[in-house]
Amino acid sequence: MLELKSISKSFHDGESELLVLREVDLTLGSGQSLALLGASGNGKSTLLQIAAGLEIQDSGEVSILGRTLSIQSERELAMLRRRHLGFVFQQFNLLPGLNVRDNLLFQRRLNRQSDRDEWTDEITEALDLGALLKRRVEVLSSGQQQRVAIARALAHKPQIVFADEPTGNLHDSLSRQVMALMVKLVTESACSLFLVTHNREMAAFTDRRLLLKEGCLHELP
Ligand SMILES: Nc1ncnc2c1ncn2[C@@H]1O[C@H](COP(=O)(O)OP(=O)(O)O)[C@@H](O)[C@H]1O
Ligand SMILES: [Mg+2]
Repeated sequence: MLELKSISKSFHDGESELLVLREVDLTLGSGQSLALLGASGNGKSTLLQIAAGLEIQDSGEVSILGRTLSIQSERELAMLRRRHLGFVFQQFNLLPGLNVRDNLLFQRRLNRQSDRDEWTDEITEALDLGALLKRRVEVLSSGQQQRVAIARALAHKPQIVFADEPTGNLHDSLSRQVMALMVKLVTESACSLFLVTHNREMAAFTDRRLLLKEGCLHELP
């Protein structure tokens, strides 16, 4: 499904070099979920971005659904992301000016999938968005906006969802609710989840936990 082989990445800032990832190996199977833990600045987002083909590693290979990313054209990569991947970020990244429904259906429409099916009905109901569909996203509360972001990430039935601190802007009890909903829907659609979080409690929702420290991954219980 997702395979990272010997991924290294460093950033250069003038004279100094910051080695963020050191020959990292990671496999995420179909329908599996993992949480990547680690302190702020440890390279979690960098690893997620490389895994999703949004950032380029210095060395090593990433493959998604059997396709090696480094030999895909920009267009092939964009198509792969559009059809098979879903993203949820801390800052929601919804499309302002559009209502909840148009945000939810955005990626489905790019993929020429129909506006409605059992799955879109199910996520609308599970995330309790039915009454909000006509509202513009910018007037919603942060908890509502993040429910829309999760719906949008899942609506096109992706194979892998990448979520970078998806509950980072929500208070504790809302974080638990939103995470539980996301994991439930991910499980129901048999999709894989790559979750980045610095929060152990959120990481308890996934099948596996990995700690990123000094550029290396460590399996946690
Ligand atoms: N584009 C970049 N240019 C230079 N340094 C970067 C860049 N992106 C990330 N970094 C640095 O790499 C380190 C890891 O960042 P990041 O992956 O965002 O960590 P985390 O998500 O674990 O907080 C940080 O020290 C950050 O400042
Ligand atoms: Mg980060």
